[in-house]
Amino acid sequence: MNRRTFFVLLGVPGAGKGTQAKLLEDRLGIPQISTGDIFRYNLKNETELGILAKSYMDKGELVPDEVTIRMVEDRLTQPDAKGGAILDGFPRNLVQAQAFDKITEPYGGVSLVPLIHISDEEAMRRITGRRVCRSCGAVYHVEFNKPKVADVCDLDGGELYQRNDDKPDTVRNRLYVYYKQTSPLIGYYFAKELLVELDGNRPIDQVQDELMGLLGERDAVA
Ligand code: AP5
Ligand code: MG
Repeated sequence: MNRRTFFVLLGVPGAGKGTQAKLLEDRLGIPQISTGDIFRYNLKNETELGILAKSYMDKGELVPDEVTIRMVEDRLTQPDAKGGAILDGFPRNLVQAQAFDKITEPYGGVSLVPLIHISDEEAMRRITGRRVCRSCGAVYHVEFNKPKVADVCDLDGGELYQRNDDKPDTVRNRLYVYYKQTSPLIGYYFAKELLVELDGNRPIDQVQDELMGLLGERDAVA
C-alpha cells in the first residue's frame, strides 16, 4: 500500500485550524478534510446526516462517533485524498483518534500533529467576529481578516454569514467540550512523538510560514 501524508490540526475552536488548512491545501497538494464543514454542507443540503448533526452542533456537542468516523472513512476514498489529507476538527476524542490510527495504518499512520495555541479570550473574540462564505466556506473576520467588500467573499463573490454555533453561549460550551473530550489527544499524540506546538497569537501568514516549514519537511520525508 502507498504511503500517504496525514496531518491532524489540533487547537481550541477559533485557533485558526480552518484558516490554516485552507491555505495549506494548495501548497501541499493534499485536501483539507473538515468534519465541521462536511456537516455544514449536509445541513445546507438538508440530508439526513445534516439534520442529525444540527441537533448536536447547535448545542456545541459532538456528533456521535460512529457517524463521524464512517463519514471520514468515506471521504478518504475520494481520489483527491490519494496522497493524504489535512484533518481539521477530526479526530476530536480518543475513540476517534484510535479509529483514525486504524484507518491510516496501511498508509504509514498519522504523519504530524500541529497544535495551535491561543487563549480562551482570544478564541471568543475570533469566533464571535467570524464570517464564512455560504458557497465556498472561506473564513473571514470582521476585524482581523476583513473581506475587500463587507459581507462578500473575495474568492467567489458569495454571501458571508455567521455560523449558527458562533453565539457566545454555544462557543463557551464548545470550549468546555474541547477541554473535556479533545484535549486528551494532546497527550495521546505527544506519547507517539507526533505533536508539535505553535503560537497561534500571531498574524495568519506568520503561523502559516511556521506550519509550512514543519509540514513541508515532514511531507518530504514521508
Ligand atoms: P468545527 O467546524 O470543527 O468547529 P471548531 O472546532 O469549533 O473550530 P472552529 O471552526 O470554530 O475554529 P477554527 O480553529 O477552524 O478557526 P478558524 O480558522 O475558523 O466543528 C463544529 C461542530 O461540528 C462541533 O461543535 C461538533 O458539533 C461538530 N463536529 C465537527 N467535527 C466533529 C467530530 N470530529 N466529531 C464530532 N462532532 C464534530 O478561525 C476563527 C476566526 O479567527 C476566523 O474569523 C478567522 O478569520 C480568525 N483568525 C484565524 N487565524 C487568525 C489569526 N492568526 N489572527 C487573527 N484572526 C485569526
Ligand atoms: Mg473550522
